Amino acid sequence: MALRNGPDSFGLVTRVIHWAMALLIIVLIALGLRLTSMQPGLSNLWLYGLHKTLGISLLALVVVRIVWHALSPPPAPIGPPSRMRLFVRLWHWTLYALMIATPIAGWAGSSASGIDTVIFNRFTLPPLVAPDETSEFVWFILHEIFAKTLLGMVIVHALGALKREMDGDGTLTRMLKGRA
Ligand code: HEM
Ligand code: HEM
Repeated sequence: MALRNGPDSFGLVTRVIHWAMALLIIVLIALGLRLTSMQPGLSNLWLYGLHKTLGISLLALVVVRIVWHALSPPPAPIGPPSRMRLFVRLWHWTLYALMIATPIAGWAGSSASGIDTVIFNRFTLPPLVAPDETSEFVWFILHEIFAKTLLGMVIVHALGALKREMDGDGTLTRMLKGRA
């Protein structure tokens, strides 16, 4: 089983990272929405810790994914070069931008709140910005906008993949099994 991507195939590394990050993003969004719907207190502080730990892990995985794709470029979307193919590429790049911007805004908002950003119950990350109420508000609004845009774009992305699979071009099979 090939680890690296080929000119028209996804290697195991890219596929494992893609599906692990997809699952992580869905868990993060559900957890984030849970956080904002509850009254913060000692009994639920661990949920904040869990959300921050998973969010920073996701940020680390995006870096791994980008480095891996620089070493082993993923195949172009299936189909002849067309405006649609360019659009799919732009969509993927925007997903990357949001996968970076969302956790950074969460980290900055947490820093601005003046509370330490502790991950894995053990490591304290350096603050990205100084404590300040207005900046906390702005960063968390941005965090919410980025996360919800990411969710919307992921839904369109998944529906697009399902539609193309049903049309018979093998797009989803390629991300599941490596080859169309
Ligand atoms: C939940 C978060 C998700 C994110 C952030 C995401 C992101 C991406 C990105 C950036 C790519 C381009 C290849 C790469 O750089 O790895 C890609 C490819 C792909 N994704 Fe996702 N994805 C997600 C979930 C899903 C889901 C739920 C499905 C299907 C139900 C799916 C199906 C696919 C397929 C089929 C491809 C290959 C597209 C092609 O060959 O043109 N993804 N995804
Ligand atoms: C891609 C990664 C992440 C996603 C998808 C995500 C998603 C979300 C979502 C959907 C919310 C609810 C927003 C709202 O309705 O107002 C939220 C809240 C929150 N997130 Fe994240 N998050 C991510 C990473 C992070 C990181 C890395 C941190 C901090 C280090 C963080 C800290 C928080 C905090 C503290 C809240 C609660 C904000 C409040 O009480 O107003 N998040 N997140």
